Amino acid sequence: MHLVLFNSINLITNKKNQMVSKKIEKALNDQIALEAYASFLYLSMASWCDQQGLEGTSKFMHRQSTEELSHMMRIFHYLSEIDGHAISPAIKQAPLTYKSVRELLTQVYKHEQKVTTSIHKLVNLCNKENDYTTLHFLQWYIDEQREEEALMRGILDRIKLIGNGPQSLYFIDKELEKINQAQAAMEAAEADAGA
Ligand SMILES: [Fe+2]
Ligand SMILES: [Fe+2]
Repeated sequence: MHLVLFNSINLITNKKNQMVSKKIEKALNDQIALEAYASFLYLSMASWCDQQGLEGTSKFMHRQSTEELSHMMRIFHYLSEIDGHAISPAIKQAPLTYKSVRELLTQVYKHEQKVTTSIHKLVNLCNKENDYTTLHFLQWYIDEQREEEALMRGILDRIKLIGNGPQSLYFIDKELEKINQAQAAMEAAEADAGA
């Protein structure tokens, strides 16, 4: 009898001690699913680019896909750290084909905007729930989304400049290759600085 009572008190106490509210836990799990979908969408895009012989763009999309996976894992580990239940998400099938490389990159930009909106909603929820720990954690994502949107806007602007000429695909691919190399060099420099 005493043992049962002790156990139920313990359960109540454990529940009280959970750092994250159910609403935040759910919103973070939704964000995990969104980042995971982005990773698989970009992977599908990389594969289509590869099929089209767009090597530079394929490499660029592979890098984006890996990045999104790391965004997902960052939230996954955070949720575990605050005693939340991180859920490995079900991923819906991403499109297999795209009308053109321009349309594909426009879709990437739109998806990034969607992710930004979702992060902003999460920030709003943290304010409502007085969850300052998660609010602080999300700051990194706010900066990351600003950078990613700027990157994609820059790419779409350059594509507009390249135009629709017969060799435009070649030049677009070279441009993406250059951006990919610049990102790789930046990551290597950051890794060196952190080592
Ligand atoms: Fe992301
Ligand atoms: Fe992203």
